[in-house]
Amino acid sequence: MRWFYWLPMLALAASASSASAQTQQGPAPAFTPKDERMEDLPEGPGRDETFGLCTACHGYRLVSNQGLTRDKWDETMTWMTERHGMPDIQGADRDLILNYLATHHPPKAPARAGGFRNPFAPQ
Ligand code: HEC
Repeated sequence: MRWFYWLPMLALAASASSASAQTQQGPAPAFTPKDERMEDLPEGPGRDETFGLCTACHGYRLVSNQGLTRDKWDETMTWMTERHGMPDIQGADRDLILNYLATHHPPKAPARAGGFRNPFAPQ
């Protein structure tokens, strides 16, 4: 048998050993989407509290995708508490968070008006 018949075997052996070297490095770092940093949220009073409270369970994207009035945000907080066990925040802290949500995620007029919206049209 000629020596170069062994080349593929050598390549396989090399890739197998590098694969096992990778597993020895431990698990990959946790996935942290770039847009989920608190610093990327709009600045304002209540930002840290809102981010901290709401991202305990889900990404902030789920929140910022919504545009609601203060009343609807209030309902959403109640819903998160009743249905998902979010801490029942009341008083000044609740006001702070509701003000932040209502200020930075207000209703998006065209989307709320219903009907077809061309996703390619400029906003
Ligand atoms: C204790 C866990 C928990 C916390 C804390 C929490 N949520 Fe949620 N939230 C959920 C779960 C679970 C879902 C998805 C399931 C569902 O829609 O019922 C969800 C979904 C949502 C949605 C999407 C609803 C939709 O129509 O798709 C919004 C908006 C939302 N949360 C807002 C908030 C806001 C604002 C806060 C902070 C004030 C918050 N959540 C904190 C558990 C939580």
